[in-house]
Amino acid sequence: MCGIFGGIMKDGNVAPIIHQALKRLEYRGYDSVGEATIYGEKLYIKKDCGKIDEVHKIHNLDSLPGNIGIGHTRWATHGAPSEINAHPHIDCGGQIAIVHNGIIENFAELKLELENKGHIFKSRTDTEVIAHLIEEAYKNNPSIRLADAVLETVRKLEGSYAIAVISSREPNKIVCARNESPLVLGLGENALYCASDIPAFLPLTNKAVIIEDGELVTLSLEGYEIRKIADSSIVTRAPKIIDWTPEMAVKQGYPHFMLKEIHEQPACLRNTLRLQEHYLDLMTTFLDRAREVFLVACGTSYHACLAASYMFSKLAFLATYPVIASEFIEQHGKSVNIESTILAVSQSGETADTLAAVNAARQRAATILGLTNVVGSTLTRVSRVYIIQQSGPEIGVAATKTFTSQLSVLAQLALRLAKKRGKISQDEMDFLEAKLKQIPDIVAKIIEKQEENVKAVAKKYRDAKVFFFLGRGISTATAYEGRLKLIEIAYVPAIAFPAGESKHGPISLVEQGFPVVFICPKDETHRTIIGNIMEMKARGATIIAIIEEGDEEVKKLADDYIEVPKGVPDVLSPIPFVIPLQLLAYYMAVEKGHNPDVPKNLAKSVTVK
Ligand code: M6R
Repeated sequence: MCGIFGGIMKDGNVAPIIHQALKRLEYRGYDSVGEATIYGEKLYIKKDCGKIDEVHKIHNLDSLPGNIGIGHTRWATHGAPSEINAHPHIDCGGQIAIVHNGIIENFAELKLELENKGHIFKSRTDTEVIAHLIEEAYKNNPSIRLADAVLETVRKLEGSYAIAVISSREPNKIVCARNESPLVLGLGENALYCASDIPAFLPLTNKAVIIEDGELVTLSLEGYEIRKIADSSIVTRAPKIIDWTPEMAVKQGYPHFMLKEIHEQPACLRNTLRLQEHYLDLMTTFLDRAREVFLVACGTSYHACLAASYMFSKLAFLATYPVIASEFIEQHGKSVNIESTILAVSQSGETADTLAAVNAARQRAATILGLTNVVGSTLTRVSRVYIIQQSGPEIGVAATKTFTSQLSVLAQLALRLAKKRGKISQDEMDFLEAKLKQIPDIVAKIIEKQEENVKAVAKKYRDAKVFFFLGRGISTATAYEGRLKLIEIAYVPAIAFPAGESKHGPISLVEQGFPVVFICPKDETHRTIIGNIMEMKARGATIIAIIEEGDEEVKKLADDYIEVPKGVPDVLSPIPFVIPLQLLAYYMAVEKGHNPDVPKNLAKSVTVK
């Protein structure tokens, strides 16, 4: 996730406006920043890695001349944070500058083609191909308009993008386009803006036009023109008046970052399906070779590991050991060795307990693999191979979108490993891959259809003193995660167990009205979980069930139920089934008057042991 901005003004210098807009977009990424402007038919650029204030201090971003320009604040996906990889990117001739938010899936093929045609690339980003493709369009047709050159270019791109382009060949225009990454226009008095989101220009204008997927826009001082990328047809869309307060604006109208991040999950999950095959394959090879594999993490990331241990076992017949990082050294520190592989999972890549476990294992020559959300984090530096999960910055202390993204990446690894080991047929592989592709839409549907329902459930149980979360099989991980969310932001004590274990002790707590949340996908565990529900009901428990649509059997037993679409294979089920639990924790916290974004005593990144 990155932030892009473009501005064209009748009078005055645009650079300070871009700078301030980027500050308002900084929550979307903050590892590098850059601006490009045009003045006197010449392109000017300043960019570097570091936070906006740091880069501004060194380079004085505001000193760029001209009334038209673009800017970018980066959250690295392809290529580490560095001056060269910072946006804007330019073509060989230094006439075209581009900023981009998204992932170009086919950049490697395009880059090769362009290199064969003589283009010289400077960065390791996927974005740079766009600048060279536009240059190529000009080469093929010197009289082409910038808008048409960009149109030709975006038709060749696969993946997600919101881009803004300027060219000294047509110094009075900004061309922007969108596919699966957000883009909005701001209409000022004597100025026009394009941005990743509304807060970027809200202090300047509250008149906005939302750009949709598959649209290209040309901005000039005369106004804006929207066209469809597919057939170049003109689109007419009236502006909207935005009445957000500045605080609401940063959260895009959501009351809290946590809710915004829950809603971002379909987009983040789509990003996980665009990971570079090369890294997935490389990690799969290491997992395949390993004599023993430890999945090491803390908190929510540990729950992703727990779910992954079921995925690896069921799909690839690989036994893995999920270990809470703070226990790793005590439990395995003496036995871990050169033949051991540690897959460390950490959203931040900076969690002290996880890094301590990794360092102990490294000292004993174990192979370290990393899954993280933060390029350049310590975990990436100590890992032999690492994968960036592409969730974008997560501000809410409670992990939500980063959890489901971790699950998606781990499922892809398990599937690849299964294929490599010949453990599943091509038909099964195709089926599971197709299901994985449907997951973002399934998650979107759950949020759309069930949010109000979950809100009502949260209201009903707001005074409950304690909760049970029970699941079987892979849903045990979902139950643990539902419990953690509720504890950490709603401050409600909660207990989670594999449902089969509850009769070995925890059931003694149950009395009339005791709320028990059951995770009930219609997988092999369904029959037995019904038995567990009966056991709880017999002792007076109140049952809240997360079920598949149309699961009449559990519906009859439950006091309240939340439905998720049917047909999700068990190995993928934690992704959709955790969504209602995230919403439940969120609305319970809100009902109780707590701010879910900043739970007491907690930090987003726990850098002490
Ligand atoms: O950055 P990490 O994934 O390593 O963080 C691990 C835990 O600190 C984190 O998941 C924590 O439990 C969250 N607050 C859970 O919502």
